[in-house]
Amino acid sequence: MNRFQKGVAISVWQNSGDSGDSNWTRYTKQCWPLSSMGWSAIRGLHNIDNNTDFWNRYKEDIGLAKQLGCTSFRFSIEWARVEPKRGCIDPSAVQWYHDILDCLAEHGMEPNATLHHFVHPGWFEDLGGFTKEANIPIFVGWAVKAFELWGDRIKLWATFNEPTCYMFLGWIVGIAPPAKMLDFTGAGRVLQIMLKCHTAAYHAMRKLPGGEKAQIGLVSHHMHFLTRGNGLLYCAAKPLAHWLTYWLGWDVVDHWMLTGEFKWKLPLVGDWIVEKDPAGKPPCDWWGINYYSRCVLSWYLQPTTLNKELLTDMYYPVYPEGLYHAIERSSAYGIPMYVTETGVADALDTKRAVMIDTYFKEVLRAIGDGYDVRGFYYWTLVDCFEWATGYAMKFGLYAWEPDGSKDRMLKDGSRPLIRFYKTLPDTMPELKAVVDRARKQKDVDL
Ligand code: BGC
Repeated sequence: MNRFQKGVAISVWQNSGDSGDSNWTRYTKQCWPLSSMGWSAIRGLHNIDNNTDFWNRYKEDIGLAKQLGCTSFRFSIEWARVEPKRGCIDPSAVQWYHDILDCLAEHGMEPNATLHHFVHPGWFEDLGGFTKEANIPIFVGWAVKAFELWGDRIKLWATFNEPTCYMFLGWIVGIAPPAKMLDFTGAGRVLQIMLKCHTAAYHAMRKLPGGEKAQIGLVSHHMHFLTRGNGLLYCAAKPLAHWLTYWLGWDVVDHWMLTGEFKWKLPLVGDWIVEKDPAGKPPCDWWGINYYSRCVLSWYLQPTTLNKELLTDMYYPVYPEGLYHAIERSSAYGIPMYVTETGVADALDTKRAVMIDTYFKEVLRAIGDGYDVRGFYYWTLVDCFEWATGYAMKFGLYAWEPDGSKDRMLKDGSRPLIRFYKTLPDTMPELKAVVDRARKQKDVDL
């Protein structure tokens, strides 16, 4: 029977940093005063070496996830830790992931593993990373290696976490490695190469022994920008919102998923890259929806709200309807969907409960309407290193402070998640039946 995965999502790098060298570790240690707006946040205590130490405390953390009622755990497999030098696999990292999988199994939790969550080894970066087509086989080699090592223990795989964010943050706004700004041609190329990597890795993993049982998906970011109003005052904000939406890439990936064609446009120039895969639509067994919100711009380009929604610390509103819309739109791919990330940066913990309650209900509403959504992963378990903003953004269900003043304290705002996870059934048919019943009795707003 199909399970409905109740989970939390983490990335191991954000909770453990590196053992050696990666694109992100380099980025946090070098100063990019012009191109990284987040640099100041990363200094001092906002230092990835001072992290939540999931690497050594995973048993405790997986136990905390279990206490929330989780039945699944989404995490990254850190390429830089497993293959710190090209061709040299670190046996201790391999064993560590086996230990994680043992621990999840002991708690009856299903693993959901991501092969690339923004971070890769420094040696891969030196070779040009995803800027070069010639490097596609190297990523595929990593996917194959990971599958050979843990393929018999993991069913749900994602090749990438948010290729569009990786591209947007690193090539357009310059707040992630390689800290390029407004490199629109480079951005398109990188995204295209990552998507080609997905396809090639998918086929390679499938061909391996046991590959036929794997469920290989892609996790994508779903956000669009809009303006608060329409008049003349918005003459700058409107095109900016249009292009920000475009550059963040939801439409580009959507078009690629539906047609197999990668199309990248440039302002004024028009189509810059148009390439259709002769094989047609990309292979993908499931779709990972990372959805946080939409972004509303004022006429003077300040993030704001449209209908007095609550504004989160990340400057986007609590906007649950957008999650339904992301599900509705992604359903066109005809494959099962998982909400692989959703959450809120909320240092005061005054919005988390509302966010969880309203977003989760949108998922239930979608299930009630017949959409094939098979899981919900809250981002994230413990407050951790939030990329360019360091430790300033508090997404965790449990509080943690880099100065040691808080260590894994459950936040009040997390309680609705516990309620949902502990009271709702674990299988899709039962969950659907609960939603249908609630709708009939009209006792829940679904
Ligand atoms: C990323 C996470 C990040 C989260 C919160 C997602 O885009 O996958 O790594 O921490 O958003 O901003």
